Amino acid sequence: MKFREIMVSSHSGPYRIRVGNRIKDEIPGWLVEMGFPVTRKVALISNVTVRNLHGNAFSASLAARGFSVAGFDFSDGESYKTLDSVRECLDRLLSLKWERQDPVLALGGGVVGDMGGFVASILLRGVPLIHVPTTVVGQVDSSIGGKTGVDHPEGKNLIGSFYPPQSVWIDPSFLETLPLRERRSGLGEVIKYALIGNRELLRFLDGNLEILSGERFDRDVWEETIFLCASHKARIVSEDERESGVRMNLNFGHTFGHALEGAMGYEGILHGEAVGLGMIAAARVARALGITGEETEEVIRAYLKRACLPDRWPSGISFDRLERFLKTDKKASSGRVTLVLPVRPGEVVRTRDYEPSVLGSGIA
Ligand code: NAD
Ligand code: GLY
Repeated sequence: MKFREIMVSSHSGPYRIRVGNRIKDEIPGWLVEMGFPVTRKVALISNVTVRNLHGNAFSASLAARGFSVAGFDFSDGESYKTLDSVRECLDRLLSLKWERQDPVLALGGGVVGDMGGFVASILLRGVPLIHVPTTVVGQVDSSIGGKTGVDHPEGKNLIGSFYPPQSVWIDPSFLETLPLRERRSGLGEVIKYALIGNRELLRFLDGNLEILSGERFDRDVWEETIFLCASHKARIVSEDERESGVRMNLNFGHTFGHALEGAMGYEGILHGEAVGLGMIAAARVARALGITGEETEEVIRAYLKRACLPDRWPSGISFDRLERFLKTDKKASSGRVTLVLPVRPGEVVRTRDYEPSVLGSGIA
């Protein structure tokens, strides 16, 4: 079985990411290799959609290897990324007399990964966690770096923990069943990596972005894209796990993107789409601050268009509606968030040196 490995450093030790098409069939064996005896319980945490597409087969292959599989499915959607959902999952695992050595596998997109990770981090003060991400966002971003958590009515991801997994197993072939709009949305995060400084990815996208956004799923092109992004994220979180410096660059497009999602009530816009529009807003703010020229916004817009992503802010989203969410961003300090702004495509800067009123230019 062909796969490539990436190492990640974390406060609880190094862990491996494996990336390869069709590696999912190897996972039961890898659990045994990691030292989990087949007599152990394994929690397969997912959601109803992924369970039907992939989880049942996955569960059967774990059971065939001898594991006693406990399934738990969250309801599907960001609106269920709540403490109530986490509580239900904890209730289920505790009712099964979960033990500290029993692992949790999170099989799904970023929502399942964030909640499954949070459950693993607080259940019995921490049980082994393995991510098996099934969306683009999950594979290039959320499964790597240990951020877990849930949303709160005050804002997104406001409750959570840093809890590194013991392994991340990424099989790009899961993406074949992802709806086209979701796949394209994930390209928002992919483009982000290129624009914050991944030159190899930037070159790769120049030749392959239309293939990635096309209707036909090209397994090899996706595998390469995911490997480049996952390697980039691994390098960044290994250097700055707690987000005191370079990890903040990953928030390029996210300050306005998260605010847009919040202002729209997490309905009608996907995360990567919001990140794309957030990168445009960041370019506009950078221009207002004299950090970049007008061409940067146009270059970003061109990438979004090639990825078939929205490149214009939805009408009817006023700055007043966004402001509350910009202020409650969890990275804000003294009510001010560190902005990640483009200098030119492939280079960003972080700044807290701005008048809050300049944020209005992001969507003006
Ligand atoms: P998601 O988890 O909601 O998944 C998107 C949709 O795809 C869902 O309906 C899901 O059921 C479905 N799906 C998943 N895998 C599928 C497959 N293989 N085939 C068909 N359908 C499938 O959304 P997402 O974009 O993966 O993740 C967004 C979430 O990730 C947000 O909550 C965001 O805050 C979080 N996130 C976390 C981090 C982090 O570092 N922890 C980073 C980025 C994003
Ligand atoms: N998605 C941003 C981060 O993991 O830091």
